[in-house]
Amino acid sequence: MFEETRFEKIHNIIFKDSIEPSILVAREIADLIREKAANNKSCVLGLATGSSPIKVYEELVRLHKEEGLSFANVVTFNLDEYYPMDKGNIQSYFYFMHEHLFNHVDILPENINIPDGKISTEDIQQYCIDYEKKIKAAGGLDFQLLGIGRTGHIGFNEPGSHYNSGTRSITLDHITRVDAAPAFLGINNVPRKAITMGIGTVMSAKRIVLLAWGGNKAEIVQKTIEGTVTSEVPATYLQNHNNTTFILDEAASTELTRVKTPWLVTSLIWDEVLKLKAVVWLSELLNKSILKLTDSDYNNNGMSGLLTEEGTAYHLNIKMFNKLQHTITGWPGGKPNADDSKRPERSSPKRKRIVIFSPHPDDDVISMGGTFDRLIEQGHEVHVAYQTSGNIAVSDEEALKFAEITQSLCPECGETKNIINFLKSKTENDIDTEAVRRLKGLIRRNESLAATRYLELNDENVHFLDLPFYETGTIKKNNISDEDVSIMKTLIDDIKPHQIYAAGDLADPHGTHKVCLDALFNALEELKQNKYMDDCWVWLYRGAWHEWESYQIEMAVPLSPDQVLKKRRAIFYHQSQKDGVMFQGDDSREFWVRAEDRNRLTAKKYNDLGLADYAAIEAFKRYHF
Ligand code: F6R
Repeated sequence: MFEETRFEKIHNIIFKDSIEPSILVAREIADLIREKAANNKSCVLGLATGSSPIKVYEELVRLHKEEGLSFANVVTFNLDEYYPMDKGNIQSYFYFMHEHLFNHVDILPENINIPDGKISTEDIQQYCIDYEKKIKAAGGLDFQLLGIGRTGHIGFNEPGSHYNSGTRSITLDHITRVDAAPAFLGINNVPRKAITMGIGTVMSAKRIVLLAWGGNKAEIVQKTIEGTVTSEVPATYLQNHNNTTFILDEAASTELTRVKTPWLVTSLIWDEVLKLKAVVWLSELLNKSILKLTDSDYNNNGMSGLLTEEGTAYHLNIKMFNKLQHTITGWPGGKPNADDSKRPERSSPKRKRIVIFSPHPDDDVISMGGTFDRLIEQGHEVHVAYQTSGNIAVSDEEALKFAEITQSLCPECGETKNIINFLKSKTENDIDTEAVRRLKGLIRRNESLAATRYLELNDENVHFLDLPFYETGTIKKNNISDEDVSIMKTLIDDIKPHQIYAAGDLADPHGTHKVCLDALFNALEELKQNKYMDDCWVWLYRGAWHEWESYQIEMAVPLSPDQVLKKRRAIFYHQSQKDGVMFQGDDSREFWVRAEDRNRLTAKKYNDLGLADYAAIEAFKRYHF
């Protein structure tokens, strides 16, 4: 075993993102299908649903359509299905598999096996026994594709699952239901049970590939790969399988020891980012401010190499302390006429043109409300561009309220009547009509305007882009298109900004924030040959859920207690997103509380490292294009 991987008990490969590895996994499956076909054998695949395998299926469909890959010899067994669940329901795994794979390839319908979510309770046990028998009769699973849940489930084998378990019905863990809530438009609609293949079933596969993308998976991936085998984290059972590979993107790998603290596993070539990361880590580990770290602190924690390179702890400490110190500024748009050699932003031009991109209509104030306010106050030409309408996050009750008010003002308005009728009779499977979506989008639009007016921004500097990829009316969004990129390009080209702020949620592989960021990156790429782009700096803030690590921060904007309150009020204007919003996740705090907790925590972390004691800090990282 390599020195770097000595903490790891499962073979894993880390890729930059999820695109290339998805293609490689699809290719491995395709090779297996072809090899079996050449020997006149069927190829038995165990398949997963969820966000992780989507691109693998996309590539398999492409291989079928463009390269003649046939599924005629393929037999599939899906891992699981919600219970109870109708096949026709768009949230069913039956629907998912047909939508993403089966409808687009030449698999024989009789070779498709997906647990039946409608089987009667009395028949479930026998049904599960038969599912197992059918897998064996088909020759056993040649290849099993897996995702991993944040509980450590594979299939729906939740914590507590037995090593030898077979196909059975199971009660879903609360975290799993929380994660599924967006697809079901609220946790109350998520089924409580499922039918799943067992651990024993999965372990019997000849080859297993598990896919994990995004920062949300980093913690469970680390526990699974480096922890001890335990029923509390069912995926750890895979440590005992002799032909398993985990395929990770960078974000999902960040908690692995060799990625998080590489100095603990091998000798390193130290670059400046790694040095700061290590020193901040050491300071946090030992609960000591940076300037108090000693030679032996470094030597005892795998950093003797760094110390040799830098001379003494004293020199290294001062260097790193200054680096952090220079990230702090009350002048996010640059301090006019000041020496800017040690400041995060340029002092000139004095008055900058600035665009704040906000994926949803409230990310601007939630994530950078204090900085937004400062930029306006310090006289810059500030624009805000809301990338999506955010319409699906408005509840039907909220929309009905506004529709009824509109109707009271205009009783003859036909469209309003239609909206009211639709909302009153809407069922779980109904997708909002265009008119309802428009109303929901308008509610969010006007909330944004209330917030930006409160920050004293002129209405003409507020831009609603309504990027088309978002406008599906469901949680599942379209892929980014040329039109999305072109809308972004036009705005940037019109304003020719010196500064762009954007939500830098690189870790979220499928969410709206990532698509919005990709739209920006593509636009920047296409615009970068323009002269004015040489003066354009891009600063990334993090969305509502995460914050940059202290060592990643390149601009830290402190907020006074009064500014914290002002930011809170700006967030309050987003009334449709208050009190138990539709996509709450597993964090029940309201957005303003989350924002304040996070800004306070960033300030505390800076203070613990030995820097000044601020009430709150908003953090940014520069993106170089
Ligand atoms: C799906 C399944 C689950 C998912 C897991 C990860 O058939 O059995 O174990 O693989 O919940 O889901 P995503 O990929 O959506 O993060």
